[in-house]
Amino acid sequence: MAAIQPFSSSSTVAVSRHNSLGLRIWHWSNSGLVLFQLMTILFLFIVLKVKTLAPEFSQVLAEKGVNLPATELRGLTRIVSHRIWDWHIWVGIAISCLLAFRVIVSFRQRGSQRTAAKLAAIRAREARGEAGATKARWVRYSYRAFYIILAVMVITGLVLVFEDYLEPIKEVSETIHEYTMYAVIAFVVAHILGVFRSEVTDEPGVVSAMINGGKPAEEA
Ligand code: HEM
Ligand code: HEM
Repeated sequence: MAAIQPFSSSSTVAVSRHNSLGLRIWHWSNSGLVLFQLMTILFLFIVLKVKTLAPEFSQVLAEKGVNLPATELRGLTRIVSHRIWDWHIWVGIAISCLLAFRVIVSFRQRGSQRTAAKLAAIRAREARGEAGATKARWVRYSYRAFYIILAVMVITGLVLVFEDYLEPIKEVSETIHEYTMYAVIAFVVAHILGVFRSEVTDEPGVVSAMINGGKPAEEA
């Protein structure tokens, strides 16, 4: 992560900032929606454990003298899981649109706002032997890896949305989608911890720069 200071001068608002508006909009929208996706999975498989609801309902009903086997109750518990999956699917479609938006942003960014320019600046710091530059380069690579992971989630997710038309690749997509989730979790945990650590150690202002854009890119 490059050393960034928050930018507050109102006289030079037109000068492009370190993080473009498009990147910031994408970042916070995408973060919220990816965290939401993880919450849907947390609720389905851990908090509610939807698959175990039918036998538990059946047992409680039996205690009250109502005899309804778990198989009969599955239809009811499926209503709960379908509601959560509907949210997962629509939020997934929103994440897919945001990824397309991120591609447009990358073409519209100018000068040192561009990812390649940020990487080149880090390489220059590394060549000067600046402390922390090598770490910053690896952080940049982790972002690249995340974009690939996100693309895999989006492609496999869309295959699952249109599974009726893509039957032959449905199962493999489901497996890839499920396992790639662990890479998403690993990135999110490492990223949030890393950003908080940077904020309180060598890069104060890194989070506000993702909110207000930070110093004009040319000065950063
Ligand atoms: C409270 C949570 C979060 C905070 C405070 C935060 C903060 C930041 C900051 C400060 C940066 C810029 C770092 C730099 O300049 O090198 C950044 C970049 C990034 N963040 Fe986050 N982030 C959060 C959550 C997330 C989540 C959940 C995701 C993914 C799902 C994510 C994905 C990314 C990506 C991909 C970049 C690189 C953007 C680019 O330059 O292309 N962030 N984040
Ligand atoms: C990026 C964060 C995401 C995470 C962590 C995530 C996680 C998961 C997991 C664990 C499953 C269950 C897979 C299985 O049953 O084996 C699933 C299913 C699914 N996901 Fe995602 N997903 C994400 C994004 C997306 C996106 C971007 C889409 C695209 C629209 C999507 C669409 C779907 C669909 C359609 C299903 C199947 C739902 C059903 O069985 O009715 N997901 N997801």
